[in-house]
Amino acid sequence: MEKLNSSIAPDHRAAISEALYQCVSETAITTMLAQNYHWNVTGMAFGPLHSLFQEIYEDHFSAQDELAERMRALGSFVDGNLSSMLKQSKINECEDKLSAVDMLKNMINAQETLASTNAGAGDIAASYGDKLTEDLCIERGKVHEKFAWILRSHIE
Ligand SMILES: [Fe+2]
Repeated sequence: MEKLNSSIAPDHRAAISEALYQCVSETAITTMLAQNYHWNVTGMAFGPLHSLFQEIYEDHFSAQDELAERMRALGSFVDGNLSSMLKQSKINECEDKLSAVDMLKNMINAQETLASTNAGAGDIAASYGDKLTEDLCIERGKVHEKFAWILRSHIE
């Protein structure tokens, strides 16, 4: 933990960063998952799903950057290795060749997990008076819940 002129104590910044790293990891794994589905989706809904998965990975690619840079602003090192992120993430890679519906179900699950991870990280930030991280996590949580709703609407 770097020395900073911050009102948040170093051990509190470390705890917030740990929660943020969970967000970074799951966002990064889901970025790749969405791109995997963007490439491999098939069926009559190819066009809209190909585009929707692209919208998701583009959003997540910028979000993982913002979340990781928030960790740096708090004075933490960011382990940028995918192997570390995979260990941390509750969302897994997908090795199977899935139908479009199963891709949607997996992606709904990933978005719901991300919404909950970001909400939890926001609570931890709030408990240490870190409004700025809290705001970022709330914003990200809302985006993930919106994607979950959009995805769910395809199979309801
Ligand atoms: Fe593409």
